[in-house]
Amino acid sequence: MTRDIAPDKKLLFKVHMPKSVDGPLLETLHSGFIGQGTKVDEFEEKLRAYFNHEHVVTVNSGTSALQLALRLANVGPGDEVISTPMTCTATNMPVLAMGAKLVWADSNPVTGLIDAESIRSKITEKTKAIIMVHFGGLPCDIDGINALAQEHQIKTIEDGAHAFGVSYKGKKVGCHSDFVMFSLQAIKHITTIDGGLLFCKNAEDYKRAVLLRWYGIDRNAKRKEFRCEENIAEFGYKFHMNDICAVIGIEQLKYVDDLLQRHRDNQLFYDERLKAIPGIQLIPKPSDIVSCPWLYVLHVTDGRRNDFMAWMDTQNVMASRVHERNDIHDAFAESNCQLPGVDTFNASQVSIPVGWWITDDDRAYIADKIEEFSQTFVQ
Ligand SMILES: Cc1ncc(COP(=O)(O)O)c(C=O)c1O
Repeated sequence: MTRDIAPDKKLLFKVHMPKSVDGPLLETLHSGFIGQGTKVDEFEEKLRAYFNHEHVVTVNSGTSALQLALRLANVGPGDEVISTPMTCTATNMPVLAMGAKLVWADSNPVTGLIDAESIRSKITEKTKAIIMVHFGGLPCDIDGINALAQEHQIKTIEDGAHAFGVSYKGKKVGCHSDFVMFSLQAIKHITTIDGGLLFCKNAEDYKRAVLLRWYGIDRNAKRKEFRCEENIAEFGYKFHMNDICAVIGIEQLKYVDDLLQRHRDNQLFYDERLKAIPGIQLIPKPSDIVSCPWLYVLHVTDGRRNDFMAWMDTQNVMASRVHERNDIHDAFAESNCQLPGVDTFNASQVSIPVGWWITDDDRAYIADKIEEFSQTFVQ
């Protein structure tokens, strides 16, 4: 199957796969060991240094990392987890997989991020965890939500799938909450084709995560003959990363800071160029973050968002809502409630290309086209 996209289309997403991956990848591929081994260990070591965080666990997807976090937070049937519908379905499916009930909190109508006061109003004695999603790469009120969670002895999970390399109050996202997850899926800031990361604040959770990602078995335990000799204390999953994915990740990490810087530069360019265009509302960024957005999200006001996407398409620029609110799906029907902030955000939000592949010429062209749209369609 071929994908029907014009070759010069300004894309929202692009896979970063440097040629320098080829050598190490082929070497590992033919090494006779392609499961979870020394390359996974090496990748984790490099991630620990990159994030300055002791407890990094690689897994086979961001979705697995979220499910593992929920398990470590002891979420199960009868429990409630507060989350947002304004995200990828992958954020919320693991809650259902654990047999727990999703309780939606509302979003800030401008940023789309989960709102701490709305979370407060949804906490009950059954609440076990709160999930916050850094939509587009813009961090939520991490400190505010963690303080609220601590008051009620609830665990917090950050979905950082869009926020690799973002800093919040002087530390990288990954270092603030009980559990933080990243996705290394094909089109994220860095990719291992598929993969995920789980960061655990405390050492006990980390040790348990290492066991649970592979059937509850300690791969490093001393053994006489083979791996299944010792007792398995509790059931685990087949969530581990393999050496093929890890060797790609090791190579990707060498480039990531330059890529992130380009995301950041493109964002700053748009912030300046688009700030005074009628019919376009930008999302303010707090001064205590260093962002490198996965999405450049803006609002097209006056009910013109769909016209905007259609117009940009005719101009060869991809513009998309990227994620549909999850609460339209029957799978989440049990959680339905009024969410005026989500309604407002979702009615006008749209993302434009911002990643490392967007050149100076591309971003100037995209800004020109947005200006042209505004002059043509907005009275
Ligand atoms: C916000 C969000 N959360 C979770 C995920 C799940 O990550 P993965 O695809 O690695 O399972 C994604 C992925 O694409 C995402 O965008």
